[in-house]
Amino acid sequence: MDLADKTALVTGANSGLGMAVSRALAARGARVLMVARDSARGKQALEELKAATGNDQLELLIADLKSQAQVRKLAKEVAEKAPTLDILVNNAATAYPKYCVSEDGIECTLAVNHLAPFLLTNLLLDQLKAAAPSRIINIGTRINDAMELGDLNWEGRSFKMMRAYVESKLGMLHFTRQLAKRITGTGVTVNCVFPGVFKSNLGGTDGAQGLFWKSVSLLLGWALAQPEQAAERVMYLIESPDVGGVSGEYFGDCRIISLPAQARDPAANARVWEISERLVNLDEA
Ligand SMILES: NC(=O)c1ccc[n+]([C@@H]2O[C@H](COP(=O)([O-])OP(=O)(O)OC[C@H]3O[C@@H](n4cnc5c(N)ncnc54)[C@H](OP(=O)(O)O)[C@@H]3O)[C@@H](O)[C@H]2O)c1
Repeated sequence: MDLADKTALVTGANSGLGMAVSRALAARGARVLMVARDSARGKQALEELKAATGNDQLELLIADLKSQAQVRKLAKEVAEKAPTLDILVNNAATAYPKYCVSEDGIECTLAVNHLAPFLLTNLLLDQLKAAAPSRIINIGTRINDAMELGDLNWEGRSFKMMRAYVESKLGMLHFTRQLAKRITGTGVTVNCVFPGVFKSNLGGTDGAQGLFWKSVSLLLGWALAQPEQAAERVMYLIESPDVGGVSGEYFGDCRIISLPAQARDPAANARVWEISERLVNLDEA
């Protein structure tokens, strides 16, 4: 895909992988709508990328994705700015060290990592269809686990940070599989990618980077990949003609990788969709 006349939206664009993908898109001439939750961090990233790439078609949008009202407001702003949207990269994610509930009554990790991309994507489907062929890329992680379908929102379980993170990222796989079915024939594709393990501030802003991860980063930082390397896997899904017609798949390094058993189950995909729809009141969107 030639990116020169394309419009892309990237969430979590001020840091790590999201910033590296925004940089690559900007360097290829795309118009990039960069979403950040903090205006100062967002402006700093925006200015850095404008200076580095010479692309002045970069814009900053501010939204705290754990708030459904802010996700809805963001979708409206995007629809006004970009009646046709060619690329959506659902990248933003975090980890909360302690149980935390959003203003919508949702466990915060689930709210940011799974329900926000679920809601945002659904709200932007008309703009994506209007730009077809267009591509949605969800950022996942390498997991071989299952979501607790009876209690996605952690109402009757004691909270575990890593478990909440892993389940929320598995939600992206269920979402990818079910959305692909729903949008078959529209010219919009959706895939999920494991970007590898790379240097990260994941959860740092929310206080979740404990001593363990900080020590690993300090000791092994030199050995970890850079976000720019991880961004190559995302750029492959954005621009390679080889994947233009591929949808509903889970990618590693430029190839399809195996799904965890639960994500292969169409009934589980549909169940996660139904629960997510209810948790974000999609009917009222
Ligand atoms: N790093 C790895 O090894 C690794 C491995 C597998 C998958 N991943 C995935 O890669 C993606 C990017 O992670 P990263 O490592 O690049 O982490 P990162 O540097 O912390 O970037 C995460 C981005 O998400 C934003 N974000 C977090 N909570 C938000 C909220 N409530 N509203 C709006 N934006 C929010 C962050 O904003 P702030 O800067 O304001 O916090 C930041 O811009 C994630 O989906 C992660 O799950 C990473």
